[in-house]
Amino acid sequence: MAATAGVVWGNPASVHREGQRARHEVEAAREAVARLVVRDPVDVTLTSGGTEANNLALAQPFLGEAGVAVGSLVLSRIEHPSVVKAAETLARRGVDVRFVEVGADGRVDPNAVEAVMAGCEKLAMVSLQAVNHETGVIQSVEQLAPAVAARGAHLHVDAVQAVGKVASEAWRAADWITVASHKIRGPKGVGAVIGRPGLKLQPLLRGGEQEKGARPGTQDPVAAAGFAVAADRAKTGPERYRGLAPLRDDLERRLTKLATDAGLRVGLNGSASRVPHVSNLSWEGWRGDELCAALDLEGVAVSSGSACSAGSSEPSKVITAMLGPQRARGAVRISLGEDTVSEDVDRAVAAFQRVFSRLESA
Ligand SMILES: Cc1ncc(COP(=O)(O)O)c(C=O)c1O
Repeated sequence: MAATAGVVWGNPASVHREGQRARHEVEAAREAVARLVVRDPVDVTLTSGGTEANNLALAQPFLGEAGVAVGSLVLSRIEHPSVVKAAETLARRGVDVRFVEVGADGRVDPNAVEAVMAGCEKLAMVSLQAVNHETGVIQSVEQLAPAVAARGAHLHVDAVQAVGKVASEAWRAADWITVASHKIRGPKGVGAVIGRPGLKLQPLLRGGEQEKGARPGTQDPVAAAGFAVAADRAKTGPERYRGLAPLRDDLERRLTKLATDAGLRVGLNGSASRVPHVSNLSWEGWRGDELCAALDLEGVAVSSGSACSAGSSEPSKVITAMLGPQRARGAVRISLGEDTVSEDVDRAVAAFQRVFSRLESA
């Protein structure tokens, strides 16, 4: 990105050479994203990130020129806020929005989704994430693709937390796929929505002809350059992330022991099959946001909800839907990164130990 920023200053929509140089970066990102999700570059629309891609995808079946929203939208209670809130807005415009409950283990049961789908007169879309953003639980979205297609509806898969992390191609049969660059170690502020071949993405924004008119607004070639590198690297991400599972499990074991030695109960939030680098735990008697603040002073960065709701003291909606508000108040999400090594785990456990002993004696 630094190298690109030094030489690329043209507008990707301009026909002169400087513009074409910038355009090249945008097209390279489109091609890299297409390689990552195994789709055609013509079906990749670049956006400002996962939030915009989710809003765009969800609106697709309801963007008729008549302005009348018809049909049902089915989603789970644990989707990212950029899906849940977009759905709530569609509901206010007349879309029949139906929520599927989540199990205590963090999994959305495909049978429960099918049961909700069966109750819809005119199913328009099913929107489900491939991996949850707070618990890391892997969802069995791919199982639902034939049933959704049989009803003539669209399947949208928010794959933001899944691409580059799991080999499972939960998004393979999706009509719309969402990805975000910053979840695969690329820059923030760029993402993509990818459509099934033949589907034309309708715009939410009005303006120029960028992204074939589906997403008007000048693209950022520097962010695109970073996204391209990140997307290509993410193709082999699942192999690297797999190696983190023993470290994560060791961390969980040691943190559980710390708590039980102190006579406290600790609960794992998301006991279903998970991605290898996420741990979400609740400590009885302690508030997650207080633990986060105390750990921050120890140099350990964890969070009490998804990053998006950090700063709000509301307990996590995801953990509340799974296990109730009490458990949600104590929830702390710990994420390991590709570069995390056992010494980092030792350091984190020592920090937790100091925080626990301080809190106990307080
Ligand atoms: C599952 C999921 N979807 C969507 C988003 C939103 O992406 P962005 O932050 O790029 O808007 C996030 C961000 O954390 C996410 O985890």
